[in-house]
Amino acid sequence: MFDVQKVRADFPILSREVNGKPLVYLDNGASAQKPQVVIDAVTKGYAEEYANVHRGLHYLSNLATDKYEAVRGTIGRFLNAPEDNIIFNSGTTEGINMVAYGWAAPRLQAGDEIVLSIMEHHANIVPWHFLRERQGVVIKWVDVDANGDLDPQAVIDAIGPKTKLVAVTHMSNVLGTVVDVKAICAGAHAKGVPVLIDGSQSAVHMPVDLSDIDCDFYAITGHKLYGPSGSGAIYVSPERMSEIQPFMGGGDMIRDVRRDGVDYNDAPMRFEAGTPGIVQTIGLGVALDYMMAIGMENIAAHENALRDYARDRLDGLSWLSVQGRSATKGAIFSFTIDGAAHAHDISTVLDKKGVAVRAGTHCAMPLMESMGVGATCRASFGVYNTTDEVDVLIDALELCHDLFG
Ligand SMILES: Cc1ncc(COP(=O)(O)O)c(C=O)c1O
Repeated sequence: MFDVQKVRADFPILSREVNGKPLVYLDNGASAQKPQVVIDAVTKGYAEEYANVHRGLHYLSNLATDKYEAVRGTIGRFLNAPEDNIIFNSGTTEGINMVAYGWAAPRLQAGDEIVLSIMEHHANIVPWHFLRERQGVVIKWVDVDANGDLDPQAVIDAIGPKTKLVAVTHMSNVLGTVVDVKAICAGAHAKGVPVLIDGSQSAVHMPVDLSDIDCDFYAITGHKLYGPSGSGAIYVSPERMSEIQPFMGGGDMIRDVRRDGVDYNDAPMRFEAGTPGIVQTIGLGVALDYMMAIGMENIAAHENALRDYARDRLDGLSWLSVQGRSATKGAIFSFTIDGAAHAHDISTVLDKKGVAVRAGTHCAMPLMESMGVGATCRASFGVYNTTDEVDVLIDALELCHDLFG
């Protein structure tokens, strides 16, 4: 039985006050809070079990290496993917850049195309702009409809003879839209085109089964998954793993270095140069175990109920506009108050009431431009949020309306 109060008790920060009010943390889309088990794992990692990994023959190095390497299996279970296809990194931004530099840059010629949706995060846009600027690669954009839904067939139809990659988000960080990435993968693969999926938001809120989705690349980021910042991973399919070139060179990713050449390590270590985020990665493993113990189905059910409650309450505010009306969206709400102050002013008033939201363009400027909005406030929910907190948000928004409306 999912018990949100029991979950809340696991997160020490949730019992603090902000501006004299109980904290209502609704900025999970930016980064999530950490349960005590993760905080303990990080503390223990540094206080009792710290050494560099893969390099020593001494006790602590072996201990840290075993704990660090075990996380590959944890991520594999979390995503239902083989652990040998999991590459550790510092988060989604690094994962997508690795694909851009190590897989796409050596393969794509001027005029080759990459298909993106308009609702990508900048992390899944800017690396492709690098290829556009440096190599003449063409970015093809696929729009979302008025509800914020992305038609998988529109993505598949955008694939032409020069398309070399499709790169789409699994869940929009602005609209909450969940994309049918399985259909996109099937359609793209039928045309011989690989698919990269940005799983930064989706993996936090719903079960992800990569054996079912059948993508080529799937990026996740630890700090949104209730784990430490600076942790993350990317799944790379066996076929792409054999094609991708190392993006960074240094220690750990080599087997032999001579004056006249280098032999690289096997994958996935070939793609993990230098001293990694050792304790961060160990903490990520603990966070994923924590989520799996709650159950991803239970997390999704709780958050879908929160979404429905929040949607009803926000829809009751006639002077507020919610961007993104997809029926199957996650519990992420971007909104503006009609005729009122800037999103930054709204978020400042909410903050005075202890409510933390994000305001701005959410690292998704092409989407904001296509929606014709300069900036929005975003309330994004997580496993520990409650309907009572939705009510606090609504009361604070009523206050904003009184002040600015
Ligand atoms: C959809 C999406 N993609 C990518 C990222 C980038 O993740 P990170 O900054 O952890 O690399 C984010 C973070 O906000 C995101 O929401």
